[in-house]
Amino acid sequence: MRILGKNIATILKPGLVIFLNGNLGAGKTTLVRGILHGLGYLDVVKSPTYNLVEIYKISKLYLYHFDLYRFNDPYEWEEAGFRDYFNCHSICFIEWPEKATGLLPAADLRIDFEILESGRNIAVYADTNVGEQCLAHWPDTK
Ligand SMILES: Nc1ncnc2c1ncn2[C@@H]1O[C@H](COP(=O)(O)OP(=O)(O)OP(=O)(O)O)[C@@H](O)[C@H]1O
Ligand SMILES: [Mg+2]
Repeated sequence: MRILGKNIATILKPGLVIFLNGNLGAGKTTLVRGILHGLGYLDVVKSPTYNLVEIYKISKLYLYHFDLYRFNDPYEWEEAGFRDYFNCHSICFIEWPEKATGLLPAADLRIDFEILESGRNIAVYADTNVGEQCLAHWPDTK
């Protein structure tokens, strides 16, 4: 998962919104960890479960890693200014996006995680033109 993340890091562009769908423990945070390390972030990448979002700045790029598992207050979304995190200078990763339906913009990419007896299965979908352009450069990770 971390190697896949490092590979995905090579095709990311500012402005992307990426939904990560999968059960508890499916590997969503581990993939984001790999992506951030692939982008050159050297520090610890924590799960944002308790404070909803972790913020990273790598060079001029802002990365917002949301975990909305415990999110249930739409007012908090507005008050915290989360809406502003989605802009052309940032990349947003969202675990449990279904918890904020109606508040989140559409995803450019959706990554579905399936837990297998050994390892994980990953499926990637593009929902926008920008997402499709990324998919066209998807790294060969075999
Ligand atoms: N491909 C894999 N094979 C086996 N174990 C994995 C794999 N990917 C991740 N794991 C392990 O699964 C556990 C849970 O991973 P992770 O925290 O990334 O899941 P998550 O999808 O973010 O879960 P949550 O929804 O609870 O945030 C970790 O111990 C991680 O090391
Ligand atoms: Mg997680």
